[in-house]
Amino acid sequence: MVEQVRSLAEDVESVVREAMARVLPAELASRDPLVRRSDHADFQSDVALAVAKRAGEKPRDVAEKLRRQLDTVPWLASVESAGPGFVNITLSDAVVLDRLRQRQSLPKLGVVQTQVDEVVVLDYSAPNIAKEMHVGHLRSTLIGDVLARVLSFLGGEVIRQNHVGDWGTQFGMLIQYIVEHSEHSWRRRGADGQTGGAVSALDALYRAARARFDADPGFKERSQRRVVALQAGDADTLALWREIVQESEVAFQEVYDRLDVLLAPQDILGESFYNPFLDDVVDELRRKGVLEESEGALCVFFDDILGPEGGRVPLLVRKKDGGFGYGATDLATIRYSIQERKATTLLYVVDSRQAQHFDMIFRTAGRAGWLTDGIKAVHVQHGTVMGPDGRPFKTRSGGVFRLAELLDSAQRRAREIVAEKAADRSDVELDEIARIVGIGAVKYAELATSRTKDYSFDVDRMVSFTGQTGVYLQYTHTRIKSILRRATDTAAGPARFSGDLTLDAPERALALLLDEFATTVQLVATTLEPHRLAGYLYTLAKTFTDFYEACPVLKARSAEIRANRLALCQLTAEVLSQGLGLLGIAAPERM
Ligand code: ARG
Repeated sequence: MVEQVRSLAEDVESVVREAMARVLPAELASRDPLVRRSDHADFQSDVALAVAKRAGEKPRDVAEKLRRQLDTVPWLASVESAGPGFVNITLSDAVVLDRLRQRQSLPKLGVVQTQVDEVVVLDYSAPNIAKEMHVGHLRSTLIGDVLARVLSFLGGEVIRQNHVGDWGTQFGMLIQYIVEHSEHSWRRRGADGQTGGAVSALDALYRAARARFDADPGFKERSQRRVVALQAGDADTLALWREIVQESEVAFQEVYDRLDVLLAPQDILGESFYNPFLDDVVDELRRKGVLEESEGALCVFFDDILGPEGGRVPLLVRKKDGGFGYGATDLATIRYSIQERKATTLLYVVDSRQAQHFDMIFRTAGRAGWLTDGIKAVHVQHGTVMGPDGRPFKTRSGGVFRLAELLDSAQRRAREIVAEKAADRSDVELDEIARIVGIGAVKYAELATSRTKDYSFDVDRMVSFTGQTGVYLQYTHTRIKSILRRATDTAAGPARFSGDLTLDAPERALALLLDEFATTVQLVATTLEPHRLAGYLYTLAKTFTDFYEACPVLKARSAEIRANRLALCQLTAEVLSQGLGLLGIAAPERM
């Protein structure tokens, strides 16, 4: 069992709770103690303001009563009631240093393993075969990657699911087009051999096939026959389909490797995997009375999901022609995840435009008795990526940007900036730094934004040494590492916090923030919002910068102060590198 430490904020909350229990009537004593960090003290509680009216007292009087109780707590250095009814709480320096010393010596800095009983099926990325991955898939890929890392860091079992779009009527059209136009080479072997080359070629063919399909009834008919052949398992058709799928998956993996995300080929479980289950899913739903027939199709309806005309919107499970849609596949997915994978939590990191789809899927799975109360199913929604002009991000001709090109542009810009700062580096070194900085910048910009919001893809802003950027965090990490390298006295072992020093304000601010790392990681797990951690790390880097400007480390007044400050540096570097690691961003030693 890993040893666990609570944060100082949690400890303060619990003593305020105890004080509340002594001075407030029972129904108010269980309220949130409303403890937060403060500019006037280490923490402040606003609970007196929140409960005074109900308690029939003045807020100041309640605050004063709480203060008197808290005054008896030995590890609090000072407690004051202030203003209209705040309680200001300051800890003793020894307590703060002690807590940091404890964290320093624990694995994962004392982060509590809260996910050990969870089996999380995490559906993310999910690009479509024969199409380019677009920026929407970039969002899902990066957010999903952080959730995978954080949940397993907290002890959960995470099953990564890359639900690629590899099945459907569109493949009939594409395959038919390829068969009729053997002059087009779309295979990467012998083709341009470039990254993503195969998908680009397929993507172009796909568009051409679509245009032909819409314009030529003969082709349309042949395509439809091809779909039937594919579904019936015709050997030649299936072989071509497999080849197309493989080509695309190799290209996807190149992007994943470049992004340095966890997704691997074995995480792919595409739509086609669920194809053999669809008949059975429909039968079961029919038996359970979940399906309704409507104009020859089998659907699920919900009284409160209505279209603009006021009619009920169907979840289409089986079409009139007997074909299955996206909905049927996702019902098979959810049944499989729960029954075969024994999932306790199902997460789908998908564009918010699919909110209604997932709402219907979850409710249908509930009606079918698959999704029960003990299982959590969440559509982890994300917004859209905009261009620098604030409109949805498109190329000049209205197409989607290739992800590889976006990453190229970030790396190019990163190289220019790095070359300016570090002119003494060789070309090879510069390329490597530019890669770390450029990819880190794209990832950080994504992860620092609340996932439900839209943001604009602006390379210049992303790749900047100042402001809230990945580069700033990486750079801060390298600065600390350089301080530690120069302090040769730490070579023998980590610097230790000594217990009987007084802390200057910037040291104290840094120390209290370091103590919040563990709760911040938990917050990412409960809210499924990576930006909580991304924002925390930025605040930490800034607070470190303030500390370092105000408090000399290597030239500190005394050996003890120096040791303490080195320990603060060390712990900050460790939190930065663990935190960046959870975001999937490299924390280099030098830049
Ligand atoms: N392939 C889909 C798209 O590109 C996303 C699939 C999301 N996952 C799911 N289980 N429906 O929009």
